[in-house]
Amino acid sequence: MIYFDHNATTPLDERVIEAMLPYFNTFYGNPSALYRVGRVVRSAIDVAREQVATAVGVSAAQVIFTSGGTEANNLALKTVSSDLPIAFSAVEHPSIIEPARKNRQRDYCFEISVDQNGLVSSSALDALFQQQNKPAIVSIMLANNENGVIQDIASAAHLLKDKQVVLHTDAVQALGKIPVSFRKLGVNLMSLSSHKIYGPKGCGALVIDKDIAIEPLLVGGGQENNRRSGTENVAAIVGFGKAAELALLELDQRTEHLLMLRNMLQQGLKSIPELVIFAERVERIPNTVQFGIPGMDGEMLLMQLDQKNIAVSSGSACTSGGGRASTVLTAMGIEYKFAKSAIRISLGQTNTETEVKQFIEVLKSLV
Ligand SMILES: Cc1ncc(COP(=O)(O)O)c(C=O)c1O
Repeated sequence: MIYFDHNATTPLDERVIEAMLPYFNTFYGNPSALYRVGRVVRSAIDVAREQVATAVGVSAAQVIFTSGGTEANNLALKTVSSDLPIAFSAVEHPSIIEPARKNRQRDYCFEISVDQNGLVSSSALDALFQQQNKPAIVSIMLANNENGVIQDIASAAHLLKDKQVVLHTDAVQALGKIPVSFRKLGVNLMSLSSHKIYGPKGCGALVIDKDIAIEPLLVGGGQENNRRSGTENVAAIVGFGKAAELALLELDQRTEHLLMLRNMLQQGLKSIPELVIFAERVERIPNTVQFGIPGMDGEMLLMQLDQKNIAVSSGSACTSGGGRASTVLTAMGIEYKFAKSAIRISLGQTNTETEVKQFIEVLKSLV
C-alpha cells in the first residue's frame, strides 16, 4: 500500500512502541499509588511531560495530558466562561468550531474570515475589536490539516497583545513538521496530538500559560493537577513523550525528506492539465499538498485510488465520507463544485520517491 494520509494519522514509530511496551504489563501500577510500581509509573509520566514540554519550549507544569487534540481543543475553550464572546478562524478543526458555537448566541460567536490562500488577515483580526462584543478568546490554528497553510500566529499575538484576550492555537498539524515554540508564537494555549507525530492514538496535550485558570471537562480524582481527572493513559503518554522527543530531535532531517518528496510530487501534479494546487504560493507544512481538478469528484477519485492500493484523503478525515465540499476550501472562496474535486496528499517519513512516481502515474491514468 502507498499511504499518503499522514495528516489523518501516522503509523507508530518502532522506537515509540518499544518505549510503551513495559507500561502495558511490567509497570502496570496506578501512577497515583504510593508504592514502588506506582512511583515508577509516575516518574515515567513525569519524563513524558518533560519531553512534550521541551518539544514546544515550555516547562513541564504547563502540560495537561488529554485524550487527544479534540479534547485539548475543547478544554482550551474552557479557559473562558461560555457566556463570553469567542472568535475562531473559518478554517479551524470541528473540535474548535463545534464547542465554540455550543450554547452561544450568534452575536457572541465570531468566525474570522480567511483570504483566498487560507490566511487570516490582520485587518480581519482588528475588526473583531471594533465591535461591541469583544471576544474573550481567539482561536487560530498554526497549520491547517487540509491545505497545510501556516498562519502567522506571532503577528496575531502581537496584534492582540493589549486586548485582554486569550489566544489559543491548534498546533496539532504543526508539531513535528515545523519548529513550534509556545513562547515565540506568543500564545496562551496550544493543542497537541500524539498520533500525528508517530505516537499512539488517544493521547494529546493542552499547553497552558501558568496564570490561566481552567474549568476542567472531567472532574473526579484530581489528576493532572486538578485540570483533567481520570487515571492516566500511561502507555500512551509515555509513547507521546517519546514521539515528541524524536520529532524535535529529527525535525531537520524529516523536513528535508518531506520537502524533497513534495517538490517531486508537485512537479508531477503540474503535468496534469487544469490541476490546481491550493494555497501553493503561501507557506505550508512540508508534507501537505491539496489539489483540485475541474470536473472530477474528489471522493470518487479517492475510491479509485484506493482500488489501486493508494490511501489519500479528500479533505479532513472527519469530514470525508460526508459528501460535502471542504469548508476550508469554500472559506477560501473556492467554488463549491471545484472544492468537491479536492484531494489531499499528506506525506510521511517512510514514503519514498518511487511511491511518489507511482502515484503520479496512477493518477494520470485515472484522470
Ligand atoms: C488540526 C487538527 N486539530 C485537531 C485534531 C483532532 O485531534 P485528535 O484526532 O487527536 O482528537 C485534528 C485531527 O485530525 C487536526 O487535524
